[in-house]
Amino acid sequence: MKKDFINLDQVSLSFERQQVLQDVNLTLEQGVSYALIGKSGSGKTTILNLIAGFLKPDKGTVSINGVKVLKPRKETAFLFQELGLFPWQTVEEAVAMPLQLSGRKQEIDSGVETLLRKLGLEKHRNKYPQELSGGEQQRVALARTLISEPDIILMDEPTSALDATTKEELQSLIREEQQKRQATLLFVTHDVEEAVILGQNILILKENGTISQLENPYYFTEQAREQLGFYEECIKLRQLIKVENNI
Ligand SMILES: Nc1ncnc2c1ncn2[C@@H]1O[C@H](COP(=O)(O)OP(=O)(O)OP(=O)(O)O)[C@@H](O)[C@H]1O
Ligand SMILES: [Mg+2]
Repeated sequence: MKKDFINLDQVSLSFERQQVLQDVNLTLEQGVSYALIGKSGSGKTTILNLIAGFLKPDKGTVSINGVKVLKPRKETAFLFQELGLFPWQTVEEAVAMPLQLSGRKQEIDSGVETLLRKLGLEKHRNKYPQELSGGEQQRVALARTLISEPDIILMDEPTSALDATTKEELQSLIREEQQKRQATLLFVTHDVEEAVILGQNILILKENGTISQLENPYYFTEQAREQLGFYEECIKLRQLIKVENNI
């Protein structure tokens, strides 16, 4: 039995006069991956920020494992839309940073080594971000997200800036790492195929803040992209998004 892990209960939030979320309810289970889809400006990034503890709701509660989120917790990792790599940090330094900051210095050598190898970054270890391609930068940011062994991984459009092949490679990596770690993954995407590849459940956020949740029958299919059924599932989802948003 999977258990409820992240809970948004009647969450409302406004920025100045603009109400972005109104009475949002959402329950996410431990070890499951969720794709969050919705129109631009519908509040997807805001939901991630609430779960991360960077924003507080005006009304309602956000809780993790039954504990109210009042500030960022160290077991929650966030891969931002703009990756947040520092120009003065080499690949190796960037990946080691979360362990440095949390005083886990003895774990740095082996932790960094393992991740650089897994994500194919060994030969770039001494480079700075401006010396890396977009896909390499994305992998560095992913390695930095994974090194602290998070139980929640939040990702805001993790592959949006990548070409098709690099995107597929990164998606496989994210999928593999999430399944191995049994972390709860919540990622925002505008890409229907990405939602069907990476999301065991798909959440559609409507402008009024209601969220429809559907299970993705294709999540456990190997080589999904080589099967017609996968594309049928994508078409179904695309149509559903239109219906949900009255387009
Ligand atoms: N700090 C802020 N101050 C004022 N308004 C904000 C702030 N952050 C977000 N908003 C507004 O809240 C709404 C939701 O923003 P959010 O970033 O959550 O949207 P999103 O669904 O992630 O959109 P996109 O797909 O374009 O990234 C938008 O209309 C945005 O302008
Ligand atoms: Mg956003």
